Amino acid sequence: MDFLTIAMPKGRIFEEAAELMKSAGFQLPEEMEDSRKLIVEVPEENIRFILSKPMDVPVYVEHGVADIGVAGKDVLLEQNRSVMELLDLEISYCYLATAGLPNTQMNDVAPRIATKYPVIATSFYKEKGEQVEIIGLNGSIELAPMIGLADRIVDIVSTGRTLKENGLVEYEKIADITSRLIANPVAYRLKQQRILDLTKRLRQAVEEADV
Ligand code: PRP
Repeated sequence: MDFLTIAMPKGRIFEEAAELMKSAGFQLPEEMEDSRKLIVEVPEENIRFILSKPMDVPVYVEHGVADIGVAGKDVLLEQNRSVMELLDLEISYCYLATAGLPNTQMNDVAPRIATKYPVIATSFYKEKGEQVEIIGLNGSIELAPMIGLADRIVDIVSTGRTLKENGLVEYEKIADITSRLIANPVAYRLKQQRILDLTKRLRQAVEEADV
């Protein structure tokens, strides 16, 4: 039988998703998370993982080189790709929020917003009827208000430590974020039995983790 190819973000999300798969009864090797390998095959389960940057998971799935994948809702909201969202895995909880220096107003004329989520930030401020200039960055977004590049940032908050340790405060919460199981629509049809079985087992594991 063909391998089922699963795209996953490297690092913490992979670890949490692998744990969830183990509790759903999948036989995954213990040392899997420690390796630097970008393709990890698990012949016992006929599964192959490809490990990428979080933002790239939906790219692999949309192009069909991965049948399914695990992607953050933040990435899905930002990219709006042609993939099916099958299940909320309820792992890697965090949220999107605006933040900035404490007790500061946004600049009246074209306030600047630094973010690695330009689509989400644009639609958030558009809905509020505020005109802003979006400044796209790739990481360490918290630097922007500290150094005078932006009035606000739109970024992920997990523990809140990065904001706190850099003297920033949160202003508005935008959306709760968890990791989702996604599928390529063609793979979903061709490998339906396997994907449905995996989804069902993961759903049970998610429900058991809730109790
Ligand atoms: C994310 C996010 C924040 C931080 C939030 O960054 O962009 O900077 O984590 O986590 P906390 O609330 O627990 O401090 P990431 O580690 O992905 O690095 P980045 O700077 O490359 O975005």
